[in-house]
Amino acid sequence: MTIDRLTLRKFLLQEKEKHGLDQDMMLLLEDIATSCRIIAHQIRNGPFLDILGAAETENVQGETQKQLDVIANDIFLSHCSNCARVAALVSEEIDEVIWLKDRPRKGDYLVYFDPLDGSSNLNVNLSVGSIFSVVELEEDLSELSNEAVLIRGSEQICAGYSLYGPSTSLVFSTGQGVNGFTHKIGSGEFLLTFPDMKLPAETGEFAINASRFRSWNAPVRRYVEECIDGEDGVRGKTFNMRWTASMVAEIHRILMRGGVFLYPRDAANAHMGGKLRLLYEANPMGFIIEQAGGRASTGWERILDVQPTGHHQRISVIMGCRDEVELIERYHDEAGD
Ligand code: AHG
Ligand code: MN
Ligand code: MN
Repeated sequence: MTIDRLTLRKFLLQEKEKHGLDQDMMLLLEDIATSCRIIAHQIRNGPFLDILGAAETENVQGETQKQLDVIANDIFLSHCSNCARVAALVSEEIDEVIWLKDRPRKGDYLVYFDPLDGSSNLNVNLSVGSIFSVVELEEDLSELSNEAVLIRGSEQICAGYSLYGPSTSLVFSTGQGVNGFTHKIGSGEFLLTFPDMKLPAETGEFAINASRFRSWNAPVRRYVEECIDGEDGVRGKTFNMRWTASMVAEIHRILMRGGVFLYPRDAANAHMGGKLRLLYEANPMGFIIEQAGGRASTGWERILDVQPTGHHQRISVIMGCRDEVELIERYHDEAGD
């Protein structure tokens, strides 16, 4: 049975009609979709092209880059530069902000991205993804500086990700809910397969790298221990646990069936502020989760309210079903930590 599904282009035209989606945002989203399609193709042919291994370079965070980190970054850079409205690009893989305009104007776009997320999964043939976020400049800029891109996540006008799993998904929000598309092999099109994605308020599944247990703060330990206690504990129900080492894959699973994802600040990563990056990991995923009815927190405050202090800043991340995130926030509050 074939179901007649909306193409990405038709969906964007409908959003323009219904919610006034800007023409430039449509073009940018189509260029991002093209980037994701090309990256998916490179990943799926990775073993033949011999590009799954490490590059001979480190990124600004001192992490060894994979060849595909570099390739995916180049693909994003070249396609996102097509849109005349884009003033600057901020990438996990590039030290400095890349300015495309000498005199950025009010209304121009800043695009932030993690070109390949979960890249340690590449050479074991597990899921990886790409993450992106778009902010609109509120005023003309007289000076091009890294500080100019330090804008709160609550100002995002669009955010999303692509998941290179058994199929390639493109999930995004322009502030009117969350919609998920799947790349149809053969046609080259992204078709709307998961309209209006919503999170349940409650869940019985959590995701955390439990090997970091000894470094966790008391509230996170309390939360996880209570989940593991299951029916006999204070939660009175059995919890399931998952960890895929790719935030995109975790967040996609949570959007599809609920859950909570934690990469908290802990004793071992506190000197960096946490592990995940605020501008191109936590903010876009926080925007998506909130648009789907969930909550995204550092444990102490809403992620989207955090004023960034650096364009590669890291942050504590706890996001997913609202009741669970609020419970973890309450534990932080009670611990006075
Ligand atoms: P990246 O590949 O962009 O550096 O990000 C990987 C991130 C995130 O996606 C994932 O949740 C986490 O790192 C995995 O960390 P562990 O290796 O500690 O599990
Ligand atoms: Mn990442
Ligand atoms: Mn990455």
